[in-house]
Amino acid sequence: KLMGQHVQSQEKEAKLANKLGIHHCTIVIGNADADQSSASDMARATTEVLDFLLPEGASTIAVMGGTTMVHVAEAMGQQIGLNRDLMFVPARGGLGESVDIQANVIAENMAKRTGGKSRALYAPEHVRSETYSLLLEEPEIKETIELVENASVVLYSIGNALDMAERRGMNEETLKELEKSEAVAEAFGEFINQEGEIVYKLSRIGLQSSKLPSIPHVVAVAGGKNKARAIAAHMKTAPPHTWLVTDEAAANEILNGG
Ligand code: G3H
Repeated sequence: KLMGQHVQSQEKEAKLANKLGIHHCTIVIGNADADQSSASDMARATTEVLDFLLPEGASTIAVMGGTTMVHVAEAMGQQIGLNRDLMFVPARGGLGESVDIQANVIAENMAKRTGGKSRALYAPEHVRSETYSLLLEEPEIKETIELVENASVVLYSIGNALDMAERRGMNEETLKELEKSEAVAEAFGEFINQEGEIVYKLSRIGLQSSKLPSIPHVVAVAGGKNKARAIAAHMKTAPPHTWLVTDEAAANEILNGG
């Protein structure tokens, strides 16, 4: 068995993967909303998945931001870097939220902990559409985005639509619009409803979800009962080779609901 003792039965993992239409799920015990140890266990399981997936030699890993990714970085150690030449690249620009949960900082931390390299993406994540195309032409930004799009792994979390909209400081009007369109999840700047349909999209500097099918390894980390609906909705849009690392609380909710 690939994972350690904090992991649920393989049967349940297969059942969840089947329900979500993806190839692999790893389920750790507990509820990340309520206990910190589940969040750390998900992070540890994620590092084990990476250790399993990454070949020897050079690999580029594109990383998103958020508190889940902070945990993943904290769980990383020299083991992952062993016989590997790793480059961690932020898969998105900066958000108007705390610096320590920004993709730039997380990528740098992962590089430090694994003895790898990192690169920064100094651009705001959310820009007006007029600015967007101009920024993408900036050589420094263009090169980083190219690295991200050619990464062998993308590592990200999924958020609840309204939580993320608030965290991103979106205005009252947009929040109402999101509620009206029954947005449940956000990832890659896309707000989606329960059917997995995009109801709102931010022009953003970073990895676009349309690139995921061509990235060899896609690892999503999200757990806690509160994220169950967001995870289920997001997986309707995710390529089949996505590997989900989650917890029991989210898994049970997804398996027992609808
Ligand atoms: O961008 C953030 C993720 O989608 C969710 O963030 O890990 O803090 O819940 P989180």
